[in-house]
Amino acid sequence: MISNDRWHLFSPQLPWYRLKLAGRSRALLLAFPMLLAACAVPEPIIIQGTAVPPLPTLDADRVMEGERLYAQYCAACHGSELEGQPNWQQPKEDGSYPAPPRDSSGHTWHHPDGLLLDIIANGGDPAFGATMAGFGEQLDDGEMWAILEYIKSHWDIESRESQWWITAR
Ligand code: HEC
Repeated sequence: MISNDRWHLFSPQLPWYRLKLAGRSRALLLAFPMLLAACAVPEPIIIQGTAVPPLPTLDADRVMEGERLYAQYCAACHGSELEGQPNWQQPKEDGSYPAPPRDSSGHTWHHPDGLLLDIIANGGDPAFGATMAGFGEQLDDGEMWAILEYIKSHWDIESRESQWWITAR
């Protein structure tokens, strides 16, 4: 038999108990979404059956630094709007190519980060008739990375995801 005392514990007439319950359920109400949020790992991108870690977000400060450096070092050839030089896909008379665009219309996003940074630092491969000189002497790694982030900020999402996949795989 429930004793009178215990019955009183559950009785709604005991305001301290109700308060305690309210406090505890309040805590639960808060804890539950927090737990859900902790479990909600961002979905990986699946490309051709391979899971790729989620696309990293671009750092706004670096993109701004990259914009400044790009204007100073790259825009003369690749265009202030990253549009490249006219007919960039057609070789010139000497066999070299005009500067390609840096945005999604070009092929920069077909290459992984490592290769792009290598081209920026060391220039194009003369074996392929490349004429672009490297910037390794004038720019440090952080600056080249900033320019690359700025260039990436001009790619559409499909280009960015593909390029991230090539880089991350
Ligand atoms: C003097 C002109 C010139 C300047 C300045 C220049 N480029 Fe280039 N760039 C070219 C040309 C031309 C090509 C095509 C390949 C070649 O001939 O080397 C090229 C190719 C590239 C490529 C490889 C092609 C691609 O789309 O993947 C990258 C990456 C690149 N440039 C980045 C840069 C960056 C970043 C800067 C500034 C730091 C820069 N370039 C400055 C002329 C230039």
